[in-house]
Amino acid sequence: MIFLGPPGAGKGTQAARLASELGYKKLSTGDLLREHVAGNTELGQLAKPIMDRGDLVPDDLILAMVREELAGLEAPQVIFDGFPRTIAQARALDKLLAELGIRLRGVLLVDVEQEELIRRLLERAHKEGRSDDNEATIRRRLEVYTQQTQPLVSYYQSTGALRHIEGLGTPDEVYKRITGALS
Ligand code: AP5
Repeated sequence: MIFLGPPGAGKGTQAARLASELGYKKLSTGDLLREHVAGNTELGQLAKPIMDRGDLVPDDLILAMVREELAGLEAPQVIFDGFPRTIAQARALDKLLAELGIRLRGVLLVDVEQEELIRRLLERAHKEGRSDDNEATIRRRLEVYTQQTQPLVSYYQSTGALRHIEGLGTPDEVYKRITGALS
């Protein structure tokens, strides 16, 4: 399954709960990149300034990272959080899933209006201090989402895999909508 949506929509929160209840692996490219940054790896050094600006890390680096993660999995039951984010990533994922014989069960588009996204991310900045949760970078992340990730909505709509989830409300309310859409 894939969780799609703008920054702050609640993809990570909902993907973690669903993965834990279904016994799936949650694969978040943002979390993996932050692990590389914390470990000061070559990829982390390259990705950090890009993430701090709110831009996307190049597709080839993301795809190599995802391939490596998938290769290490015992069972192909995965919830992708924040991946794919470009049409090129989506096409590469389709190819990879076909090679591995994995079926895409659904794409959950969690949508929330922009002012609420900014409010949530600024609130998280006060609690956790993620380096890309400042107003300038948040605005850039939202722009990048509109320009480079939103085209995936029509891409997955055309395959019939897309489910729209209203992301406003409490995390429990949103989760109920997700399980309802999947059943
Ligand atoms: P990534 O880590 O994927 O961040 P993001 O997409 O900007 O999303 P967030 O994690 O900020 O939001 P979310 O929708 O997951 O919401 P969350 O549950 O956390 O990417 C970071 C960067 O890495 C990118 O900018 C890019 O540079 C790079 N990157 C990552 N993947 C890439 C890729 N595939 N290709 C290229 N580059 C890539 O919730 C947000 C906050 O809201 C939390 O504080 C949460 O507690 C709160 N919250 C959640 N649900 C609710 C609710 N219902 N009501 C109130 N508050 C809520």
